[in-house]
Amino acid sequence: HFVHFEEEVASTQKIALKLAYEGAKEGTLVISELQTAGRGRMGRKWFSPKGTGIWMSLILRPPIPPQKAPQLTLLTAVAICQAIQQVTGIVPDIKWPNDILLNGKKCVGILTELQADPDRVHSVIIGIGVNVNQTVEQFPEDIRTIATSLAIEKGERIKRARLVQEILLQLEKLYHQYLQHGFRPIKLLWEGYAVSIGKKITARTLNGSIKGTALGITDEGLLMLEDEDKHIHYIHSADIQL
Ligand code: BTN
Repeated sequence: HFVHFEEEVASTQKIALKLAYEGAKEGTLVISELQTAGRGRMGRKWFSPKGTGIWMSLILRPPIPPQKAPQLTLLTAVAICQAIQQVTGIVPDIKWPNDILLNGKKCVGILTELQADPDRVHSVIIGIGVNVNQTVEQFPEDIRTIATSLAIEKGERIKRARLVQEILLQLEKLYHQYLQHGFRPIKLLWEGYAVSIGKKITARTLNGSIKGTALGITDEGLLMLEDEDKHIHYIHSADIQL
């Protein structure tokens, strides 16, 4: 595998997309100490200060159609939960599709992007941001009530290298399982960490909000939401309010 380590980048995601376009091999990883323009979901920024977190992007070339790419987001969330559990002993929660929460606050974000090109094998770029050693004061004030780090929750600093290693190990294991046996086994693991299933939630999509009960996820990884009229909505991308 190829690991590209950079002291400072705009976004590891941008670099990985470019490398993927240029034909980089599956398993290529871009990791950086600092991102000056970290990207979040839905056009948001991802706060990525120097030396306190894990900011990395992994290139995969799975033999699956692009509409199944959301499964890989869920797979990644499971792998990260397992790694956090392994390294810190803390069992995190997953909020669909890709937020990992500790005590109701977000400590991990996952951003999956596709690099599709008719002439090339398409690839999936999985961006992972983990807040590891930030103190409360190191978070911008406007996200202090919704964001946390592993160190804050655990009460001690965590070795980032150890966590990176464990995340990649779990990811590799689950990815092979996924390629051999499909999404089913991963979905079961995911449901074990999920907090929103069976609850009344509000899903804010780019086209407006839907209120309802989260029934579960489909085999593709979409969220099934039943509204008050018993209509089932299949949601690709949204923010969930519990
Ligand atoms: C989210 O909005 O929850 C997803 C955040 C993803 C952040 C990671 S950090 C590494 C990679 N590079 C980026 O610019 N974003 C992702």
